[in-house]
Amino acid sequence: MKGIVLAGGSGSRLYPVTGAVSKQLLPVYDKPMIYYPLSVLMFGGIRDILIISTPADLPQFERLLGDGSALGLRLTYAEQAQPNGLAEAFLIGADHVGDDSVALVLGDNIFHGPGFPAQLRRSIADLDGCVLFGYPVKDPGRYGVGEADDNGRLISIEEKPAVPRSNRAITGLYLYDNDVLRIARQITPSARGELEITDVNHVYLERGTATLIDLGRGFAWLDTGTHDSLLEAGQYVQVLEHRQGIRIACLEEIALDMGYIDPDSCYLLGEKLGSSRYGEYVMSVAKAAGAIG
Ligand code: DAU
Repeated sequence: MKGIVLAGGSGSRLYPVTGAVSKQLLPVYDKPMIYYPLSVLMFGGIRDILIISTPADLPQFERLLGDGSALGLRLTYAEQAQPNGLAEAFLIGADHVGDDSVALVLGDNIFHGPGFPAQLRRSIADLDGCVLFGYPVKDPGRYGVGEADDNGRLISIEEKPAVPRSNRAITGLYLYDNDVLRIARQITPSARGELEITDVNHVYLERGTATLIDLGRGFAWLDTGTHDSLLEAGQYVQVLEHRQGIRIACLEEIALDMGYIDPDSCYLLGEKLGSSRYGEYVMSVAKAAGAIG
């Protein structure tokens, strides 16, 4: 399976913070926002990843992440000239996906919860059509909203409905078979002028091959769309990291755990991060895994 991180858009709801910096490069406590969705793809075992952003912001992502080889990944980059909608990712990323299946994750979505990596790997292994992840929220009308039957089959999906049929928001992580490339070419822009991911998902719903998995209680799907929610996401990460002495979405640690890099390479990555606490953490997990240091 190939991966795509969609990290474009104007970030206008966070102005002036995003006046000169991409939203997805803003810090969520101790690391840039894009680390969180990237960690999701890594947990899924996906190593060949396309990062899509605006022409102005793309060089900064490349500067931060390079070709990914240090993490045992293959990272490539592509521009989205205008925010024409989430489904445009499949037009821009068609060559990258090739004949493969694909996971799309939005660059501003943060997922954290026990058992999530295993759940994701199961969903990828069993993929037949598309898999969406639903999360109960108190304001579903701000999101794509879905309903599933008792077997987890998606039975309705709507984008930002005025009267939501359920409280299940469709999160920004989507797994698709290769047919998504053809479907994305066939949909047309919505009333707001965007190629809607919800229209793509609707095609799978009609085929009866869309699955909605509930990320239930105790799971964190965090919003970064407003100044308050961005701060709260950072505080959530801070609280967990301080209390448990772990780091959420530490890409170097995940690469080590997944066997993409060895302990000595991980240690060197930590050293390169200078005297930051994050760098010290990377060195400590590498040492615990047997790095000579
Ligand atoms: O976060 C989940 C929600 O994302 C889903 O529940 C909705 O179904 C889906 O349409 C989307 O809703 P939003 O209204 O939140 O999408 P927004 O336009 O804010 O874009 C989400 C992220 O994707 C944002 O960081 C900007 C980026 N983006 C957006 C568009 C439209 C792009 O990179 N390119 C784009 O063309």
